[in-house]
Amino acid sequence: MLIAQITDLHVVADGTLCSGTVPTNELLRQAVERLRTLRPRPDVVLATGDLADHGTDEEYAALARLLAPLPMPVFVIPGNHDDRDALRRAFPDHHYLPTRGFLHYAIEDQPLRLIGLDTVAPGRPGGELCAERLAWLETTLAAASRPTLVFLHHPPFDTGIWWMDAIGLTGRRRLEAIVRRHANVEAVVAGHVHRTIVRRWAGTLGCVAPSTAHQLALDLAGEEFLAVNREPAGALLHDWRDGTITTHVLAITPAPSFVPADHATPETLAKTRAYFERAAQTLKAAETLA
Ligand SMILES: [Fe+2]
Ligand SMILES: [Fe+2]
Repeated sequence: MLIAQITDLHVVADGTLCSGTVPTNELLRQAVERLRTLRPRPDVVLATGDLADHGTDEEYAALARLLAPLPMPVFVIPGNHDDRDALRRAFPDHHYLPTRGFLHYAIEDQPLRLIGLDTVAPGRPGGELCAERLAWLETTLAAASRPTLVFLHHPPFDTGIWWMDAIGLTGRRRLEAIVRRHANVEAVVAGHVHRTIVRRWAGTLGCVAPSTAHQLALDLAGEEFLAVNREPAGALLHDWRDGTITTHVLAITPAPSFVPADHATPETLAKTRAYFERAAQTLKAAETLA
């Protein structure tokens, strides 16, 4: 099962730019086209918050239009830039979304169980998992022992980028204790930081996905406050196979090749391919014997 994760789309009203500079709608259009034409095609798409920049109906209408070409199920959760009710209004056919209260849910009809969390604390850029949401997660995790992926907007750990950590997630200690009690949580994946970040957390894999639009500078020295840049836009591909998740970073814009055209003739490619096929067989045979 291939799970694409897009995050921090920051969609704006048609004909405008995010913060006056970033063409977030056009960048999302490119991301959707990349996912739509990817082979193999992802089975589902998770959109992990900051879907709209100001949370207005107009922005969500643009978001719904931009996501519409995706033929696979798309599961959305809100981020600090989102508005729960406006998001609900824009996706009336997303029946997995609760009609009232927090936008958290479990998707049960996929090979990997998917649990979306709502970390929104209205009016604040930081996130929150209150007692009610944590209790819901505890009950939901306890209801099934199948392998599960948890997704939320705010990472439940510090990333080393101090000013983003300053608007991090409260309730993370209790979340960590809950996740530790459930060894079937294969990964906890987030957004918010507009960078690719991976770390061990709560005995499982913790990931942060890059934005489909603008990225934030890798500023571990604490010197580049609010540095938004044009590092390549991306998405994560969580590949669930053989009982484990392998996560890949997908660049939205395919990169040109370094291999000169005359190095890649059909004859040289066929010869090299035969070498790799033999190597794969040799490795498999060695592993069978080991
Ligand atoms: Fe964001
Ligand atoms: Fe955010």
